[in-house]
Amino acid sequence: MDTERKESAAECAAALLAWYDAHRRTLPWRDVRDPYATWVSEIMLQQTRVETVIPYFRRFMADFPDVAALAAADEDEVLKHWEGLGYYSRARNLHRGAVQIMEEHGGQLPGDAAGWRAVCGVGSYTAGAIASIALGQPAAAVDGNVVRVIARLTGLRENAAAPSVRREIAARCEAMMPGDRPGDLNQALMDLGAGICLPGTPRCDRCPLAAFCDARENGDAEELPLLPRKAPPREIPWDVALIRCGGKVPVRQRTEAMLRGLWVFPMAEGHSAPEALAASLRALTGLEVRGLRCAGEARHVFTHRIWRMRLWVAGADEDAVPAAPFRLVTEAELSGLALPAAMRAARRIAFDDGEEGS
Ligand code: ADE
Repeated sequence: MDTERKESAAECAAALLAWYDAHRRTLPWRDVRDPYATWVSEIMLQQTRVETVIPYFRRFMADFPDVAALAAADEDEVLKHWEGLGYYSRARNLHRGAVQIMEEHGGQLPGDAAGWRAVCGVGSYTAGAIASIALGQPAAAVDGNVVRVIARLTGLRENAAAPSVRREIAARCEAMMPGDRPGDLNQALMDLGAGICLPGTPRCDRCPLAAFCDARENGDAEELPLLPRKAPPREIPWDVALIRCGGKVPVRQRTEAMLRGLWVFPMAEGHSAPEALAASLRALTGLEVRGLRCAGEARHVFTHRIWRMRLWVAGADEDAVPAAPFRLVTEAELSGLALPAAMRAARRIAFDDGEEGS
């Protein structure tokens, strides 16, 4: 880099850090300097808002305070702590990563970004975040917010989803990185992207980098970063049935890739009339259901799918036993299982709905 650009990068970093010092959010994972805590928080923060993560992070750290405690837990317990946070493969990989660190490294956490990259579920973003925030090393941590900030700031007008462009963004971050505060610089970029350099219309009037910003000067901040149009998520209709057998309901633990390890009520693809649905539920669970009644609807948006769920309540014989893999649980037992948000809507509607169908 030529001297002029180096100076401008240093001035830019200084302006950003001054803004960060004045406006930084106090968050439970900040200033901890524990790579384990940073790892947990950064995995939770992927695709998830800071406000949502805070209580999950606190509970998780209280119950699994270090890598040994996490590795010793059952995957079901870890998923229960993740209940409602979504993207559950994050929790399964975090747990697997902890087991891997105990088994392969005797519980010793990696000491740099390359070491972290080798841990299950840790990609270059997370490795860079841990290395910079917890270990004070000058590594970039490029997430969606940082892509937006750097593309606008440096006028990068190429497909920001391309791996070569992501690498260029990382290089531009590293060029700004002050030797003494790499973690703060990364978190300042994240905060700027989350609060000022917003998708759509950015709040340039409040931006500490406005004077340095290529897109502001060029008037095309709203068009950056350039990203390929994503296919809209596919909508799948489901009938979800809460079938009361005495004081219990049948549930099963999913083995499919999506929501693996989480618990669901019997569900049949499509939206069917009650007679057809009763036949599907009989085939699925072996139960003769009666009094099927639609109690509401819910939608759940995943990355590539939207589940449009019609929620049904029904009854079956008090002593009926569902076919495996379904098993009967009481409402209290149900609260001990990890239910995805999609099923929590079903539970709420169905249990609020009164003593229907039994
Ligand atoms: N998003 C992802 N990581 C973050 C962090 N460390 N602080 C604030 N927002 C974040």
